[in-house]
Amino acid sequence: MFDVNKIREDFPILKRKVHGHNLVYFDSGATSQKPEAVIEAINKYYRETNANIHRGVYEMSVESTRLVDETRTNVAEFIGARSEEIIFTRNATESINLVAYSWGEENVHEGDAVVITKLEHHSNMIPWQELCRKKGAQLRVVDVNEKGQLEKTKKIETVEENGLKVVIGGWSNLLDKKVKLVAFTGQSNVLGTETPVEEIVKMVKRKLPAVLILVDGAQMVPHMKVDVSKLGIDFLVFSGHKMLGPTGVGVLWGKKEILSGMKPFLFGGDMIGEVKLTGATWAELPAKFEAGTPDIAGIVGLGAAVKYLKSVGMENIHSHEKEILKYALEKMRGLEKEGLVILYGPEAETRGGAIPFNVVGVHAHDTAQILDSFGIAVRSGQHCAAPLVTSFGVTAMVRATFYLYNTKEEIDYMIDKIREVPKVFA
Ligand SMILES: Cc1ncc(COP(=O)(O)O)c(C=O)c1O
Repeated sequence: MFDVNKIREDFPILKRKVHGHNLVYFDSGATSQKPEAVIEAINKYYRETNANIHRGVYEMSVESTRLVDETRTNVAEFIGARSEEIIFTRNATESINLVAYSWGEENVHEGDAVVITKLEHHSNMIPWQELCRKKGAQLRVVDVNEKGQLEKTKKIETVEENGLKVVIGGWSNLLDKKVKLVAFTGQSNVLGTETPVEEIVKMVKRKLPAVLILVDGAQMVPHMKVDVSKLGIDFLVFSGHKMLGPTGVGVLWGKKEILSGMKPFLFGGDMIGEVKLTGATWAELPAKFEAGTPDIAGIVGLGAAVKYLKSVGMENIHSHEKEILKYALEKMRGLEKEGLVILYGPEAETRGGAIPFNVVGVHAHDTAQILDSFGIAVRSGQHCAAPLVTSFGVTAMVRATFYLYNTKEEIDYMIDKIREVPKVFA
């Protein structure tokens, strides 16, 4: 049985006060809070085990290596993958860059195209812009409609600047033989739009079976059950810190046969087979992509986070968030009807736990600051998705994002305090 009050007991930070008020944390889209089990796992690691991995034959190094291997197995199991297909990186951003540099350098050439969407976080946009610019390839962008959903068909528009040709349209007119990779988010970090991943994958692979698909799971893996063995995708990236784990550790999952054929992205210790003064051979997966000492304590923390999420149950987490989202969206629609706020994004049915909004006539940063004075933490700005935010005709939005520890009482409190915002300027 999912009991949010019991869950909240596991998160020590939720007991803190901000400006004399109970903390209401609505910024899990940026980073999630950490349960005691994760904090304790990291603490215990440094107190009892700390040693470098893969290097020593002594007990603590062996234990450290085992902890990293166990996490790899747990993460693999969590997303329906094989453990050698799990590459530990620093975050989702680094995982995407790894694919762009390693796979992209070898496989994207002049005249080719990479497809992304306007929903993307900068981290799933800029690496592809840079790759396409360097290679003389086209960047194609699936546009969004006014509800923030991906367009099936849309008249083509072309922009060319700084040596990069960008073609904007809908799915149906962007997919042809020039396309080498399609990279899109499972859930928008700004609007909460849940993209129909399975439907998109089927459509792309039916039309272009050789095209690779990368899914940005940064806002998806923390919130719902994801099984790569069923999705038909080629790469999945996500960050530990958005799924109750610590900062500093992320994941790249790739199909073994694809990762095996890719060159390493970083070179150095731990990723080699044999080294001579004139060169080296590469280790097997996953070591080939994990040069240097990783964030061992971070990986241990991520392992504890995955165990925690599994113990609560991803289905329970998803349905709790959906309930909170639906409740919050209804209340926010009430404020919209009163002319107090402007809302962005789709209806609750196709939206994860994110509500971007603006209070009419008030800058997003001012709203966020006023809400902070009541202990409410929300993000404001462009949310690392400037092209998306500005396409709604605004320079910034306030964004409230929810996770397993948020409650309806917290939503009521925020609604109450949003009403206070215009009064500050009256
Ligand atoms: C959808 C999405 N993709 C990628 C990222 C990048 O994550 P990180 O900064 O952990 O690399 C974020 C972070 O907010 C995100 O929301």
